[in-house]
Amino acid sequence: MDKPKYYLTTPIYYANSRPHVGSAYTTIVCDVIARYKRMCGYDVAYLTGTDEHGVNIERAAEKAGVTPQELVDRNQKIFVELWKLLGIQHTHFVRTTSVEHARAVQMLVRRTLRRSPHAIYKARYEGRYCIYDNLYVSDSPEPADCPICGRPAELISEENYFFRLSAFQQRLLDLYAKDPQFVQPDFRMNEVKSFVEAGLKDVSISRKSIKWGIPWPDDPEHVFYVWYDALTSYMTGLGFGEGHEGDANRTFQRFWPADVHMIGKEIIRFHAVYWPAFLMAAELPLPKQIFAHGWLLFEQEKMSKSKGNVAYPEPIVKGFEQVAGAKVGNDALRYYLLRETVFGQDGNFSRDALITRYNADLANGLGNLASRTVSMIDRYLGGEIPPATESAEFDIEVEKTIGASRIKFDNFDFSGATEEIWNLISVVDRFISDAKPWELAAEPSKKERLAQVLYDAAETVRVVTVLGHPVIPDATQKVWEQLGQKGKLADVRVDQLEWGGLAAGTKIGKPEAVFPRVDKTEAYERIEAMEQEIRNPAAAPAAGGTGSAGTGGVAAAPGTAKISIEDFAKVELRVGIIKSAERIQGADKLLKIFVDIGDEVRQVLAGIALSYAPEDLAGRKVVVVTNLAPRKMRGLESNGMLLAAAAGADGKPVLCTFAEDIAPGSKVK
Ligand code: MSP
Repeated sequence: MDKPKYYLTTPIYYANSRPHVGSAYTTIVCDVIARYKRMCGYDVAYLTGTDEHGVNIERAAEKAGVTPQELVDRNQKIFVELWKLLGIQHTHFVRTTSVEHARAVQMLVRRTLRRSPHAIYKARYEGRYCIYDNLYVSDSPEPADCPICGRPAELISEENYFFRLSAFQQRLLDLYAKDPQFVQPDFRMNEVKSFVEAGLKDVSISRKSIKWGIPWPDDPEHVFYVWYDALTSYMTGLGFGEGHEGDANRTFQRFWPADVHMIGKEIIRFHAVYWPAFLMAAELPLPKQIFAHGWLLFEQEKMSKSKGNVAYPEPIVKGFEQVAGAKVGNDALRYYLLRETVFGQDGNFSRDALITRYNADLANGLGNLASRTVSMIDRYLGGEIPPATESAEFDIEVEKTIGASRIKFDNFDFSGATEEIWNLISVVDRFISDAKPWELAAEPSKKERLAQVLYDAAETVRVVTVLGHPVIPDATQKVWEQLGQKGKLADVRVDQLEWGGLAAGTKIGKPEAVFPRVDKTEAYERIEAMEQEIRNPAAAPAAGGTGSAGTGGVAAAPGTAKISIEDFAKVELRVGIIKSAERIQGADKLLKIFVDIGDEVRQVLAGIALSYAPEDLAGRKVVVVTNLAPRKMRGLESNGMLLAAAAGADGKPVLCTFAEDIAPGSKVK
């Protein structure tokens, strides 16, 4: 029988800057849905892409001294690379500067003019518009500030093509009434309804003032305005634009309409009002659902590059991997984002909470359960899954978890689904602690009981790996193999999952820890140092070394390229005398140090707390790098760096110091 189809999309990301954790959030969530749906037997098309037109791209390119095309080519690659790093399994990637997309947009407007000749007309537009958020702030020429970013909006006055949105008010209201699931969550549906009930204004869908866009068919002075252009990409990616009416492509016919457009809450109006109206006018099927999630906040505000409060995914993934010595970063980030935030509402991003979650739920939770179960089968049962002889103790509990977590996945309640799964992990943990297999193993008469206990534990781990796979794909595949299971976990059907799938006699694999614990301070500092490199590539000390941020960073490895004396002279080194030092709460390795450098006393954070007690440091003469760009760690500013040697195999910091009397501020060269 033919598989049912499922088509989901992320928004098409602006290609004017690199993606941050907020952008990755939508993409990761969609990847979890795509993987889950595939495991439920669907043929899934998952589209993402880059939004490469518009005035903000033009401006970003100008600032960077490159052409818009060069800028978007460069940034698009960063998106593709990041999605690869995060294990995103999209099936389609659309670029709005592609020839296919231009054809699709022009085809859509031509089709609309044929089928609904009054839906589009030409008129003068005057209004205020925010170029950063691509938002009409007001339809009058009076000065106005953008409600999203607060910046003054620009005056636009020119002839435009308009879409007669006002004519679609009733049809939209009918749609919402007939299908209350069209917009989710419910409270967003209510917002959209109120907005439409208040009356709709026609919207401009072309621009004369912008050059960087798709030309209007037969009127190339106009280019398409960003939303008409961007929204159409959901169809372009599937091959819309072919044949007389645009809808001849087989992939398009199979997958359109979308089952869900996943978006952030600030772009709901464009998706839940404009988009269905554009499609109604073109007589094309409407998407089945628009789901608007909340924002990831960082330091209490929406994470965004223009506000400067961003965290990037690469340092998290790579930082975790370096500190843990295993490929765990991707799972760590995915699990944290899905588990910590109630999907649909705003959530807070914190590196501290991310690392805590990793250690508690992944290292101590699933990782520990899997490795102790597999190790005990290895040690006590010769590495073979035993037959289940007695009746299982919590098969009912497991079946309940399968049902409950599936309902939650189906409803996009990811924090709820993961909570169900991790509750089951706690139940098995307790069961093992109570049953004490290590004691059963010592008594030959308890052999059957031992076999049953370990069967139950291993079977539950198997179920957990299947349910958890969409969220943490890397580690679950490894546990799957440790349980002696063949093939790809992704091919297992979660909708057919039930108790008892583990076959007696299966040879287990090598027991190995899938989530090594990480030292919190070390992980935090490593991630922050790498982050700094992205934000400020010239100033940050290289990441990937000892992790003792602020104590000299990483020395050039022997054999790396030589530098000239001019390069060395760029580093300003001075004698400093430590005035005082104190510990920083929650940071095991960092000390806050006040150091006199002659003409001022600087605050410097140094990762030397494991080698030096703060009270022993006052009066010590040290070498300070004084012209390093200030950086923040743990919310505190570090304004300089103390030089230290990395001693022994563990790189223990030893401060550079002077035996002779020397005045603070003296130059070191
Ligand atoms: N180009 C438009 C979308 C066009 S879709 C036809 C756009 N791009 S965007 O790059 O600004 O945003 C893309 C998505 O990332 C949006 O869904 C937005 O909500 C999401 N996020 C950007 N920052 C975010 C957070 N801080 N938190 C959660 N999601 C956020 O809008």
